[in-house]
Amino acid sequence: MAFEYLAEQLAQQKLTHRFRQRQCIAKQQEANLFCNDKEYLNFSSNDYLGLNQHPDINHALQEGVSKFGVSSCSSSLVTGFSYAHNVLENTLCEWLNKPKCLLFNSGFSANHGLLSALACEQTQFWLDKLSHASLIDGALSGKAKVKRFLHNNYQQLEQLLLKKSLANNLIVSEGVFSMDGDQADINALQKIAQKHQAWLYLDDAHSLGIIGEKGQGSVSINPHVDIVMATFGKAVATSGAFIACDETLHDYLINFSRHYIYSTAMSPAIAWATNKSVEIIQKDNWRREKIAELSRLFAKSLNDNIEMIPTSSSIHAIIVGDEKKSLDIAEKLKAKGIWLTAIRPPTVPNGTSRLRVTICANHNKQDIKYLAENINKAIN
Ligand SMILES: Cc1ncc(COP(=O)(O)O)c(C=O)c1O
Repeated sequence: MAFEYLAEQLAQQKLTHRFRQRQCIAKQQEANLFCNDKEYLNFSSNDYLGLNQHPDINHALQEGVSKFGVSSCSSSLVTGFSYAHNVLENTLCEWLNKPKCLLFNSGFSANHGLLSALACEQTQFWLDKLSHASLIDGALSGKAKVKRFLHNNYQQLEQLLLKKSLANNLIVSEGVFSMDGDQADINALQKIAQKHQAWLYLDDAHSLGIIGEKGQGSVSINPHVDIVMATFGKAVATSGAFIACDETLHDYLINFSRHYIYSTAMSPAIAWATNKSVEIIQKDNWRREKIAELSRLFAKSLNDNIEMIPTSSSIHAIIVGDEKKSLDIAEKLKAKGIWLTAIRPPTVPNGTSRLRVTICANHNKQDIKYLAENINKAIN
């Protein structure tokens, strides 16, 4: 029979407690979600700044629909690039102080679209070991050489770079790592890139909106990062993504990135709503301050035997290790009205299944204390 391996592999997933299933969420409101007629406190959302359902963003979306329509109706190189996209690109350039920006339909497609466009024989990619799947797939998609360095281990990266054999080198890292919540040392990476005549590419999916006084992410730490990508699907609370870079790379991507060329442009109404969200992010510093304050409270409220990876982001990873154990803890928390998805391999390395807690600006102190109290009970 054809494709017998499908059923075999699914059975194996079940056996190893790695079987993935979706849950249909009826509604997400503030820090709560509703599923199967039950209400839960949500600690798995990437809406870090609590902007989903913000009335001004909702209004901008409706305005965008009436002005430009829901669909862009074609790819950007045909007639899909509209005034709404142009405004958003300019806002992003000004915010991040970068010459050019280019919009994509998702972060996955932006990462894949950039790396596959650069993946020729004369290129080598140097990726942090914990890079997102889209970065790995993009890097491996073409003829470029690919080397992964140990997570945040810049000594190893430098040693490897000393032996580089190709002229075009791109160092790739995340600003804040998605599953660990820890941060790259942006200044160290930029220095290394400069010293070895490499470019630095940062995936700021989990930094944008959170890091920096106006939420600019990694460029607030070092303005000389060559290329920045971020998705709008996390703190920005819409969808789509952008790449910020210089003019030459911008034009190169428009000409050679297959994801950009052969895909319908993102919805102009969403671009319009995203522009409003970026305005709010820049001025609502209280949202970033609240995440920091609640994160401190969370760390203080956990039992001493529970270890969390240090971070200034919204993501707080508690490593449990075993798949089954992390699923059991997540189930116990669910019974207490807490939604906290257990993260298992292959999303994270073997033996590092974990609880990935996201603290958002729409949580309050009581929510955090309730979470910590129940994690303390569920883990010991
Ligand atoms: C680090 C990182 N990069 C890229 C992406 C992909 O972004 P998107 O969800 O917009 O495809 C994600 C998450 O989904 C992510 O965590």
